[in-house]
Amino acid sequence: MTLSELLPSLAHATHFGLDHRLWPSTTHRDDLGQLCVGGVPLTEVADEFRTPAYVLDEDDIRGRMRRYRTALPGISVVYAGKSLLTTTVARWVEAEGLGLDVCSGGELATALAAGVDPARIVMHGNAKTCDELRDAAHLGVGKVVLDCPLEIAFLAGQVRGRQSVLLRVIPDIDIGGHPAVATGTLDQKFGLPLGGDAIFEAAHLVLDQPALHLSGLHCHIGSQVADPGLYGLAVTRMIAAMAEIRTRLSVTLTELNIGGGHAVPYTTGDTELDVDQFGAAIESALRTACTAASFPRPALVIEPGRAISARAGVTVYRVVAVKSQPNGRTFVAVDGGMSDNPRVSLYGAKYTVTLANRHTPTPDKVVTVVGRHCEAGDVIARDVLLPADIHAGDLLAVACTGAYHHSMASSYNMVGRPPLIAVANGRCQQLIRRETVADLLSRDCGRSWPAPSLAPVSRGPGDAWRALVDGE
Ligand SMILES: Cc1ncc(COP(=O)(O)O)c(C=O)c1O
Repeated sequence: MTLSELLPSLAHATHFGLDHRLWPSTTHRDDLGQLCVGGVPLTEVADEFRTPAYVLDEDDIRGRMRRYRTALPGISVVYAGKSLLTTTVARWVEAEGLGLDVCSGGELATALAAGVDPARIVMHGNAKTCDELRDAAHLGVGKVVLDCPLEIAFLAGQVRGRQSVLLRVIPDIDIGGHPAVATGTLDQKFGLPLGGDAIFEAAHLVLDQPALHLSGLHCHIGSQVADPGLYGLAVTRMIAAMAEIRTRLSVTLTELNIGGGHAVPYTTGDTELDVDQFGAAIESALRTACTAASFPRPALVIEPGRAISARAGVTVYRVVAVKSQPNGRTFVAVDGGMSDNPRVSLYGAKYTVTLANRHTPTPDKVVTVVGRHCEAGDVIARDVLLPADIHAGDLLAVACTGAYHHSMASSYNMVGRPPLIAVANGRCQQLIRRETVADLLSRDCGRSWPAPSLAPVSRGPGDAWRALVDGE
């Protein structure tokens, strides 16, 4: 007989309920109350890889890649690697038939180390270095998205064959929300504005370079966009711009890339972009705009990142301390924080947290989950419900941490970045190992003793220190 059968009330306690829109698709609670993802109890992940740890549901992330392809036939899906990229993730991307968008030499190197066909890669960046442009050209990436006229002549000088390029355009669409994620408006750093002559002058410069092939335009209106109509508006404006380029420069561009930014829910009640409605909105806008301008239908490309990777990820933390302050707030402090999740302090992002290691009949209370870093703003989730008997040693799982967590992590306070563990069919696969203090110290050119991991093994007080730096 299971524990839930013995104590049916357990199954109804609020902190046992999971909003399945927020958690990886394979998530469930076992009879002991342990949260399981990919058939693996998170307690096992914590035992084997310690905490904090990023856990990634392979079935979930690959299923979302597939869902995009089947829901949007005829549209090329390019996964935005900035949301989460490792060599294994890059291999999944290629195996599922998606392209890969990179925005730095490091992301490009990761894609190539995974064996991704360079022709499937789109290279972005508002300040690509000369080295990055040269590498992109020499390695034969499929498309380079040009962000400013200065890049044009330099790239043309590096190209060996002929390089396809897109021009990044600002469609002047305000998605609302946090200014840090509104990239479709004029008052930000990416791209060339619609209206005025900037786009046409840049297009002219590209067309003057025989080594470059101007295949189309690109835009990205921002992040966490839930309204499909905003993408329809982007398509309308971009087709109008392509038609004007045809009129002014006598060239018909054949590709329109409308970026990513598809919203996902982080907490219950958050809206998400519906992929079917998105497909219908852009299709309708494309048909109308092309008909109005007598413009031939271009190939459509989209670049979702978060909508593919966010919900596949969960972060597992160990509770280190629980403290009730005189103002009545209870702080639950965990062994990670803003170094593995900078989004709360950057954007005021909100998260969903649950107890991950046990059942409890205790009712919930409102607590604030905080990190271990030396900042009062180091918060993971403010005013969330957790069981009132939460205590040091418990495990917490935070939902929707697959995107912009591993990829945005830092080593603030000399805390090494967490490992990334893929789970599927009851098995764990370590994709990224934990960053140790030895890793961090190895960059410190002023250290006066040998790298600790290279020191001879000895018994004695040094062992504890060695274990610390080796992360054992
Ligand atoms: C050019 C471009 N494409 C795609 C994306 C992916 O956005 P998201 O992960 O929100 O889908 C971004 C995110 O910043 C971007 O800048």
